Amino acid sequence: MSVQSELKQTIQEMVDDHRGILAADESHPTIARRFKAIDVESSEENRRDWRSLLLTTAGLGDYISGVILFEETLGQKSEDGPPLPEVAWNQKIVPGIKVDKGTGPLSGAPGDLVTRGLDGLGERLKGYKARGARFAKWREVYPIDRHNPTLLGREANAEVLARYAAVCQELGIVPIVEPEVLMDGDHDIDRCATVTEQVLHAVFHALDRHHVAFEQMILKPNMVLPGKACRRAEPDEVAEATLQVMRRAVPAAVPSINFLSGGQGAEEATVNLNAINQLHGNAPWQLSISYGRALQQPALHAWLGRTENREAAQQALLKRARLNSLARKGEYDPAMEQH
Ligand code: 13P
Repeated sequence: MSVQSELKQTIQEMVDDHRGILAADESHPTIARRFKAIDVESSEENRRDWRSLLLTTAGLGDYISGVILFEETLGQKSEDGPPLPEVAWNQKIVPGIKVDKGTGPLSGAPGDLVTRGLDGLGERLKGYKARGARFAKWREVYPIDRHNPTLLGREANAEVLARYAAVCQELGIVPIVEPEVLMDGDHDIDRCATVTEQVLHAVFHALDRHHVAFEQMILKPNMVLPGKACRRAEPDEVAEATLQVMRRAVPAAVPSINFLSGGQGAEEATVNLNAINQLHGNAPWQLSISYGRALQQPALHAWLGRTENREAAQQALLKRARLNSLARKGEYDPAMEQH
């Protein structure tokens, strides 16, 4: 199959009008933090048990079309045999892989960060593809402060995202492009809107410069929200601000915008997605999710590392996946949380 047909097919398998993406690609330090909160050791076996629990949830494929895995998970097997990427496929969930190597300071731009991992990326991608990955994810992070992100920070991060996406497409792997403006701080929603718009403009200019086909990528941005230390915004306000920024900065050729949850509570992330989809009018893209914490947290707290809690944890995951699927149609109601 040609690279073009591979990209097209993967987009078709991942993008529809009711499903979203599960991010289960926490790096070792991040999963260790999540496990510590429930007093579970981050051993290879526990990580495999947790991710296998997520992927073997019966019916998950009704609401989830793709799963982002961490490198280690690509090579792991579920308890009863098949490799975890195969377990995903059996549920009609496309397996993908996080390929960035985390952030570090950006020299010349104090306070800004830049993500590592471009060296040798092509070779790594070929290996991941051979092990079943059909799409990749790369995250750039933008902390908001008085002087950040700087112009240099925005441009350097955009350049890296574009180079990553171009390598992916060249090898027939759909890139998820994730520029995340962080929620940390006391900035208001207007400041988040300004920064997110500037960031997305820089990202799409760079993607265009590097000849990335917008039709064959997925954008994973933050919603436009006030900083965690600022007052909470109403869902209508979040929806209006988010859609305004997306309309101004995201080309209509992009098939799907899959928001990250970024530290919103699980229900909050569903309420906001619902408001966005109620207000979207004739938006040209699907407005979906690629949630990590907002899908996993309730399940993780139901599990607590105990085999006897497996079923309850899977039910908790399925519930969040189902409610977010309803929110994709603007049909979610907080009263549904009781069932
Ligand atoms: P959250 O939804 O927890 O922000 O995670 C999504 C993700 O993949 C971050 O890179």
